[in-house]
Amino acid sequence: MKRAVIVYRSRTGTTRRLAEEIGAYLATRDIDPQVVSVGGCDVQALRDVDYLLLGCWTGGLMIVRQHPDQPWVDFARAIPATTGPRIGLFTTYKLATGSMFAQMRRHLAGRLSAPVLELKSRTGRLSESNRRALERFIAGA
Ligand SMILES: Cc1cc2nc3c(=O)[nH]c(=O)nc-3n(C[C@H](O)[C@H](O)[C@H](O)COP(=O)(O)O)c2cc1C
Repeated sequence: MKRAVIVYRSRTGTTRRLAEEIGAYLATRDIDPQVVSVGGCDVQALRDVDYLLLGCWTGGLMIVRQHPDQPWVDFARAIPATTGPRIGLFTTYKLATGSMFAQMRRHLAGRLSAPVLELKSRTGRLSESNRRALERFIAGA
């Protein structure tokens, strides 16, 4: 069975909900999901997984300068270099994600494979297009 780790950083619970929805969806696809917060994640264990999904709430000035918060950045920088897992990113937001994914990628560049999935949700619920994107992600398309 393939394994996925879904790591989230959430202030008020929306991004945690999205992480849990992603985990529940992957479980319906014969993937063993582990959903964990940034603070509860053992970064050394991330090398051995098939899928690694990294999420953070969108911080910024609402329409510009979106970025992950400092605890997420510290976590991202602590992930050991590995090309093993396929990488996906996710975020929740209110108005616009703007530079959010580019900033997340910047902190991971050079140590992980380039992310091949970007999921965003205002509510923390998975939309139909989110589900289709997850299908492509696990199929490797
Ligand atoms: C300080 C602060 C800055 C934010 N900046 C943005 C922003 O630039 N763009 C946006 O769409 N939402 C922004 N938001 C909204 C949050 O990203 C959104 O509510 C998110 O779903 C919260 O996730 P959480 O419940 O996991 O903490 C901001 C929220 C806060 C508290």
